[in-house]
Amino acid sequence: MTAEIINGKDLAQELRNEMKEEVTELIQKGLTPHLTVVLVGDNPASRSYVRGKEKAASEVGIESSLIELPESTSEDELLSLIQQLNTDERIHGILVQLPLPKQIREQEVIEAISPAKDVDGFHPINIGRMMTGEDTFLPCTPYGILTMLQSKNIEIEGKHAVIIGRSNIVGKPVGQLLLNENATVTYCHSRTADLKAYTQKADILVAAIGRANAITSDYIKEGAVVIDVGINRLDNGKLTGDVDFAGAMKKASYVTPVPKGVGPMTIAMLLKNTIKAAKGLAS
Ligand code: GUN
Repeated sequence: MTAEIINGKDLAQELRNEMKEEVTELIQKGLTPHLTVVLVGDNPASRSYVRGKEKAASEVGIESSLIELPESTSEDELLSLIQQLNTDERIHGILVQLPLPKQIREQEVIEAISPAKDVDGFHPINIGRMMTGEDTFLPCTPYGILTMLQSKNIEIEGKHAVIIGRSNIVGKPVGQLLLNENATVTYCHSRTADLKAYTQKADILVAAIGRANAITSDYIKEGAVVIDVGINRLDNGKLTGDVDFAGAMKKASYVTPVPKGVGPMTIAMLLKNTIKAAKGLAS
């Protein structure tokens, strides 16, 4: 079997084209969606992600502003900035780029953002709403993965989804979203004994491990759908995922590549959430 590639770059472009039309209409009605991104410190990877978010926002007509704070910023300073942004009616979405410097507690910051402006979908209120299946801001990477599966009409109901990774940003919420779609979900992680025994039973395998090419073809069931969330930079500078792509292509039915897979979808879903926030559809 040769797998079909789910091209996240192309799908994200399609979504941006649709969003551009919607934003144009909103602007004609006098509503310009506005995303404010807060970047603390000088992490080069964070800076690069933030640039990608600004560029994508501008392409669809969403206004964005970047607030850059020094590495030495205190938690109180950041929290008081967030309070100001929460009450500023011109701002619809707030994104504080993670990770934060070590003197700042991330959870305090996440919980300070108004749930109505939480376009990352990280606030416990929004996580709770996701768990109960209410309409809310979904975390962008899991939302992007779900959208990729739906774009190919891949059946989720009744399927066995195995998630490798249990981060708050990806692993936990992607399992929840697939459960909401009636999949049977298994979470695996660094302490899982005999990982392969689980992954070999997966109809949908989501790899969010952070280790280059860790998932070789022997971990994959024939005909499985393989979603690669990894972004690993090799010594030669090349980006690669958590999945051995060539091996997966021979065994799976669908595979997401890295690059041009989940990454571009994450940013597209952030824009979707920003439009939703501007329309006041999640509070
Ligand atoms: N750092 C890495 N991924 C993310 C994300 O999705 N949102 C934020 N705010 N920070 C991140």
